[in-house]
Amino acid sequence: MHNKALTMFDLTGRTAIVTGGAKGIGKGIAANLALAGATVVVADRDTEENIACAQQITNAGGKSTAITCDMSSETEITALVESTISSFGHLDILVNNAAIYPMSPIADMATDMWDEVIRINLRGAFLLTRAAIPALKRSGANGRLINISSIDTWKSYIGMGHYDASKGGIEAFTRSCALELAEFGVTANVIAPGAVKTPGSKTVRNNLARERGESNTDAVDADFATRIPLGRWADADDIGQATLLLATPAAHYITGQTIYVDGGLKLTM
Ligand SMILES: NC(=O)c1ccc[n+]([C@@H]2O[C@H](COP(=O)([O-])OP(=O)(O)OC[C@H]3O[C@@H](n4cnc5c(N)ncnc54)[C@H](O)[C@@H]3O)[C@@H](O)[C@H]2O)c1
Repeated sequence: MHNKALTMFDLTGRTAIVTGGAKGIGKGIAANLALAGATVVVADRDTEENIACAQQITNAGGKSTAITCDMSSETEITALVESTISSFGHLDILVNNAAIYPMSPIADMATDMWDEVIRINLRGAFLLTRAAIPALKRSGANGRLINISSIDTWKSYIGMGHYDASKGGIEAFTRSCALELAEFGVTANVIAPGAVKTPGSKTVRNNLARERGESNTDAVDADFATRIPLGRWADADDIGQATLLLATPAAHYITGQTIYVDGGLKLTM
């Protein structure tokens, strides 16, 4: 009985791609999928950190390889899927996590900044999903599309108009994917993280601290934590574990959903 329950959380034999997997949340997702037995292709534009991440997973006893991929390049995205299939024979789990979040008020936002955010966060996820769909269909009931959005889709922040549009778009896109893939048994869901300590959010937190005349982010972090019912910021592992749940056989009947992984933050916003 106990063993049967464990098989519901086992990803042995599955192949996963995690974009933006070299650092931050993507790294936490890659590590957790590997812990459950999946072979994880870490796909990031930062080649050095990408290789280091795959190496860390391998050193810990998991299976991982690094493929450099810039999500703004259709050529690199196509090559990522082709190379994954030729190396491992199949692709079962796709996690679209890579995203950027430079801040700018809409009135001052350069068109180039808008375009870059949409190009990486939304167009990139579309291109990779489209390239992966034939393989996901072949994977059938093992097939999983998991897209990372943000609590920003619940309540926006000043300076994040482009990002919020991209993340709202990801959620709507995922619902369409869920409808189109359902007949093959493939599920499509969104994980919406709350406040997570990552290299990317460190830049935002540094800016806030500077605006407050503070030399580090300790007070900013502590103030924000008081708004989170569970009382602390998430780390990449918290998001990685929730993503793992959606990737497992146990989640085979969950599709078209947005799961907030935010320590309850949405309740206080
Ligand atoms: N950190 C948070 O508080 C938070 C909250 C809500 C949602 N999110 C979402 O979680 C995801 C990860 O965020 P994070 O905070 O870990 O970011 P991060 O900046 O710490 O890490 C992002 C990773 O993506 C890679 N990347 C960026 N642009 C890329 C591109 N064009 N092609 C390939 N790789 C690229 C980076 O090299 C990096 O390794 C994003 O989708 C983000 O929107 C984060």
